[in-house]
Amino acid sequence: MTLTSSPSRRRAPSSYGCVSRFNHWLTATLFIGALGLGLVMAYGGLPRESVGALMGWHKALGVATIAYGLWRVGWRIAKGFPPPASETHAWQIAASKAVHVGLLAAILAMPLSGILMTVSAGRALSIWGVTLLPSLGEIGWLETAAEAVHTQLPFAVLAMLALHIGAALKHHFIDHDATLARMTSGRIRA
Ligand code: HEM
Ligand code: HEM
Repeated sequence: MTLTSSPSRRRAPSSYGCVSRFNHWLTATLFIGALGLGLVMAYGGLPRESVGALMGWHKALGVATIAYGLWRVGWRIAKGFPPPASETHAWQIAASKAVHVGLLAAILAMPLSGILMTVSAGRALSIWGVTLLPSLGEIGWLETAAEAVHTQLPFAVLAMLALHIGAALKHHFIDHDATLARMTSGRIRA
């Protein structure tokens, strides 16, 4: 029997295709990078000049997240979510869908709020000296709203990521089902 015809290597119709898997892992890397740097800048107790150095990377990863994320979120909306990889309680299906929708929203809302917070505070959006967007001038209400989103949403994101990654590990190591495998190799067996 050839490898491709083996049931353990065949891709399930309800698996993720290579575009979806590439989209997921690329955006996850960019997003976690921006999130990690943001948290270190805010709570790491670093000296001012170190925060300044990290800010360039933070903004670059954030802008890359929204630039690629627009396509990535559009692809998911167009393709929809596949059904669960194994028999699952209705509440777990609903919870997983809610977290997935929340994370898709955060992929756009986090960088968008960061960009709006900057350009509405009278500053251009520039990264390493390259200006990507001009300042909108000082728009107090917009700066306040965007800053509230950018500084409060990370707490919800951290909670969603803890559930998301915890569930993926539980499915893989405790339930031994294909939830993680279909997002890595695309195969239906863990
Ligand atoms: C995936 C994208 C992004 C994530 C996950 C993210 C996350 C964060 C986090 C967690 C903080 C610390 C918040 C706090 O002070 O409590 C932060 C701060 C900040 N971020 Fe982002 N960010 C992203 C994209 C951006 C972008 C594109 C910009 C563009 C200008 C930006 C600009 C800033 C600025 C200026 C701060 C400092 C805020 C302050 O303390 O006044 N971020 N970010
Ligand atoms: C180490 C980190 C991560 C692991 C192990 C992981 C694992 C997974 C797995 C196994 C699935 C498939 C779930 C299913 O079929 O029911 C999935 C889907 C998903 N993940 Fe993650 N993930 C990680 C990070 C992230 C991050 C950082 C984000 C976004 C900020 C994210 C957003 C999503 C979304 C929106 C889906 C739904 C399918 C899609 O549109 O790609 N994940 N993840």
